Amino acid sequence: MVGNIYGIDLGTSTIKIYQKGVGLVLDEKNIIAIEKTQDKKRVIAVGNEAFEMHGKAPANISVTYPVRNGVIADLADMQELLNVFLKKMNEGKRMFASEFVVAIPCDITDVEKRAFIDLISMSSANAKDIKVVKKPIADAVGAGLDVKSANGYMVVNIGADTTEISVISLGGIVISNLIPIGGNKFDEAIKSYIRKNYNLLIGDKTAEDVKKQLASAFPTDEQSIPVYGRNLVSGLPVKMDVNSSMVFDSIVELLYSVIDSIKYILERTPPEIASDIIDTGIHITGGSAPLLGLDKLIGKETGLKVNVCDDSANTIINGLGRIIEDKNLSSLAVSSKNIIFYE
Ligand SMILES: Nc1ncnc2c1ncn2[C@@H]1O[C@H](COP(=O)(O)OP(=O)(O)OP(=O)(O)O)[C@@H](O)[C@H]1O
Ligand SMILES: [Mg+2]
Repeated sequence: MVGNIYGIDLGTSTIKIYQKGVGLVLDEKNIIAIEKTQDKKRVIAVGNEAFEMHGKAPANISVTYPVRNGVIADLADMQELLNVFLKKMNEGKRMFASEFVVAIPCDITDVEKRAFIDLISMSSANAKDIKVVKKPIADAVGAGLDVKSANGYMVVNIGADTTEISVISLGGIVISNLIPIGGNKFDEAIKSYIRKNYNLLIGDKTAEDVKKQLASAFPTDEQSIPVYGRNLVSGLPVKMDVNSSMVFDSIVELLYSVIDSIKYILERTPPEIASDIIDTGIHITGGSAPLLGLDKLIGKETGLKVNVCDDSANTIINGLGRIIEDKNLSSLAVSSKNIIFYE
C-alpha cells in the first residue's frame, strides 16, 4: 500500500513538490547553506532562507546550488536539502511508503539520470516506487498540450542554467536538446559587461534584479535604474545608473545562441511534424520565458508563431500534477524499476 504520491521538479534555481490531492506543497530556492568546521559539516539553512545568505555569508559558511546545468552536481548536498524539506513537509514524522514521480531532462547521460533516482531512493522519502517522466513531456502537459495525440509540438523551456528544446509527438520525444543557457547566464553576462566596461562589481541578486527590470530582446526606450556595487579600481562601494541598452548589449548574443539551437532542432524535425509545428507554433515555458520581447524575437527569426505559456515557471510541476491526478495520463510516468541504464 502506497501513502502519498508526490511529483518533484528539481531545477537549478528552484525545487518544487506537488502532492496528489493537495497541490503544490513546496516551492523554494534550490540552495543550501552549510557551515564547515574542522571535522564537521552542519546544514544551517535551506531554500529561500539559504538564498537570503547568498553573497553575504562569511568564509566558513558555503551557500551553494546542488543542481547545476540541470543535473545533480552535488548529490550529498542535494540529499541533505531534500531531507530537510521532506521532514518539514511531514512535520518531523517518518514518511509512510510514498511514491515519487520525478521529471528528468532527456539530453543527459544515464549516470546523470540515475542520480535523480538515487537521490530519492536514498532520501528519507521511504519511496516504494520512483517513477520517471521526461521533463519536456511534463512541461508540455503543464502547458496544456495534448501530448498523447499524433500532433507534433515544439516546447522550449528557458530556465535558470539551461534551455531544453524538444519536439514531442504521441506521448514521446522525437528530438530534444539541452543547452547550457538560461536566466543565470543572462545575469552573469550583465555582471561581466558592467565589470568590463565600468570596473564595477555587482552581486548575483543585483544582476538578476537588473535583468528582470530592464532586459529586453529588442533595443527599447532608454530606461535606467540605480545599482550599487564595488568599484574595482578604488575598491569603494559606489552607485551607478544601469540602462536598458547596456543590458540588451550584454545578453543579445546569448539570445541568438538559443535561437540558433531552436533552428538546429527545427532542421532535424521530420517534415510531417514540422507541418504540425507551423500550425501550433513554438511553446515557450520556464521561468525566463517572460523576458520582454523574447517571443517576438524567436518569431521573427524562425518565421513561426510563438506562444508564451501562462505561469511559465510552473509548467513542469503543473504537468507532473496532472500526470499524477489524471488516469488517462498516468502511462506518461514509467517506473524506474523498468528502466535500463547502460552506464
Ligand atoms: N520576469 C522575468 N524575466 C526574466 N527572467 C525571469 C523573470 N522571472 C524569473 N526569471 C528567471 O527565471 C529563472 C528561473 O527559471 P526556472 O524556475 O524555470 O529555473 P529552474 O527550473 O530552476 O532551472 P533549470 O530548468 O535551468 O534547471 C531565473 O534565472 C530567473 O531570474
Ligand atoms: Mg527547469
